[in-house]
Amino acid sequence: MLVSLWMVSILLHFSSGCILSSTPEEVTGYTGGSVVLSCSCADVQTQRPALRWIFNPGPNDSILVPYEQQHSRYKDRVQELNSDSPGNLSVLFSQLTVSDSGLYRCEANGNDYNEIRLTVKGKFDHSLQIM
Ligand SMILES: *[C@@H]1O[C@H](CO)[C@@H](O)[C@H](O)[C@H]1NC(C)=O
Ligand SMILES: *[C@@H]1O[C@H](CO)[C@@H](O)[C@H](O)[C@H]1NC(C)=O
Repeated sequence: MLVSLWMVSILLHFSSGCILSSTPEEVTGYTGGSVVLSCSCADVQTQRPALRWIFNPGPNDSILVPYEQQHSRYKDRVQELNSDSPGNLSVLFSQLTVSDSGLYRCEANGNDYNEIRLTVKGKFDHSLQIM
């Protein structure tokens, strides 16, 4: 009995499909601009895995995807880019502000994840200081 439960759990683990490939871990954007947060399955997918993108993983996280659970600060700023392949879980993240800087986590089927650190810089950092 225990052995068969163990085998079932192993089968479930392998059949769940998407193993995430490693992506660039550091991304830089500029205020008002946009970035692609990359995430994709290393293995070919026929179906789209259950996808979650969260900011600041931990007790104070906030959800970008799925849209039904999305935090209001991300409204109309996050677009899934899966048109070509169901295994591509990348999103386009727009209208960046400096407070968007931090850690983003892409989760596939709740059992594998990748993290990307985003730094958003002010566009006019030093160039526009008026004397
Ligand atoms: C989460 O947010 C609360 C309220 O802003 C803060 O007091 C707490 O330190 C935060 N916890 C973490 C782990 O950042
Ligand atoms: C996923 O889609 C994005 C946006 O179309 C593209 O830039 C990226 O190269 C794709 N990634 C893979 C692994 O195909």
